[in-house]
Amino acid sequence: MNGRKRARYLLAAVGAVVATGAVAYGLSNVRKGYEPRQPIPFRHTRMAGPPVWQVNDDGERVNVGGFGIPCVYCHTMAYKGRHSTVASTAVCMNCHASVGLNKEWVLKMKEYWDRGEPIPWVKVHDLPDFVYYDHAAHLNAKDDQGRPLLPLTDEDGKPMVVCQNCHGKVEEMEIVSVQHPFNMQWCLDCHRKPEIKASTDCVTCHR
Ligand code: HEC
Ligand code: HEC
Ligand code: HEC
Ligand code: HEC
Ligand code: HEC
Repeated sequence: MNGRKRARYLLAAVGAVVATGAVAYGLSNVRKGYEPRQPIPFRHTRMAGPPVWQVNDDGERVNVGGFGIPCVYCHTMAYKGRHSTVASTAVCMNCHASVGLNKEWVLKMKEYWDRGEPIPWVKVHDLPDFVYYDHAAHLNAKDDQGRPLLPLTDEDGKPMVVCQNCHGKVEEMEIVSVQHPFNMQWCLDCHRKPEIKASTDCVTCHR
């Protein structure tokens, strides 16, 4: 290829990348505030939130808050793979084969289970395919002293679930929504922090 041809070839390649990106930008669901409705109104407050005890009319202590189930009990792959994955219905049925069977939504879930169909959960976060992201690489990242690179405390110094760095306080959400822009700038802002110093090379995220 001579010089001018190569330049034109390169320009076309860059143009194609930008065009694909622009289309993906318009279509992607990874925007702050995106809060799709789910086939079953699964509430993280109830499953993953902290308990709140109240005394009911019969004088019994009942938990009207959450059951504090750890995130990774259901999102089993977070520390092991690229995708955190959402629990299969089998995980839900560990408890719901016997728990909550008088609840409408639990019964609906059981119908999917009995039909052998997965629950069609709607994806909340969904990066375009030309972006490479890996949960395990983030959650297992350590500094020179072996301490986790992602903060384990919030701005007030209180301990928090590491997932909050990117997903916010999911355990307080009735409906999961996207808490940050999840665009290139947002990724880079964290990668550039002096205490993080993660790579900002294009090929790190576009391979
Ligand atoms: C450094 C930021 C970051 C942290 C920390 C993080 N996530 Fe994510 N998470 C993302 C991004 C980015 C996506 C979108 C991935 C995609 O679309 O390819 C995502 C997607 C997800 C999804 C949808 C399925 C998937 O993997 O695509 C689940 C579930 C999830 N995260 C759970 C968790 C849990 C649980 C934790 C903590 C154990 C966690 N995440 C920590 C950035 C993060
Ligand atoms: C460790 C046990 C356990 C697991 C695992 C579990 N649940 Fe639950 N779930 C409960 C308990 C306990 C209740 C409260 C039942 C009640 O109020 O009578 C509940 C209540 C619910 C409700 C009722 C409505 C509400 O929000 O008040 C829904 C829907 C539900 N679970 C869905 C799920 C789904 C979907 C999964 C799998 C992704 C799941 N659960 C996994 C223990 C569990
Ligand atoms: C009992 C099982 C269960 C537990 C515990 C649980 N989740 Fe989830 N999670 C689900 C299910 C089911 C969905 C899909 C429905 C929805 O989005 O509400 C989901 C969805 C999500 C999503 C959105 C996934 C997407 O499509 O982008 C994120 C992020 C997430 N969970 C993070 C967390 C974090 C952080 C915790 C711990 C604080 C947690 N979850 C605890 C079952 C669970
Ligand atoms: C809250 C801070 C934070 C955010 C937000 C964040 N990252 Fe990272 N990223 C890190 C840390 C920490 C590392 C690990 C650096 C190390 O190991 O030295 C990392 C490393 C990476 C790596 C290299 C590891 C590998 O798998 O090869 C990729 C790729 C990556 N991030 C992609 C992304 C993308 C894409 C986004 C946005 C969707 C993003 N990151 C958002 C903190 C963050
Ligand atoms: C830390 C991860 C990360 C790094 C490093 C990174 N990008 Fe991106 N890039 C992203 C994410 C995430 C998107 C998707 C943005 C969206 O959908 O809003 C993106 C989108 C794009 C797009 C599509 C246009 C757009 O805005 O949606 C182009 C072109 C692009 N990146 C080029 C580059 C170039 C050139 C570099 C190196 C200078 C680079 N990227 C470095 C994460 C990264």
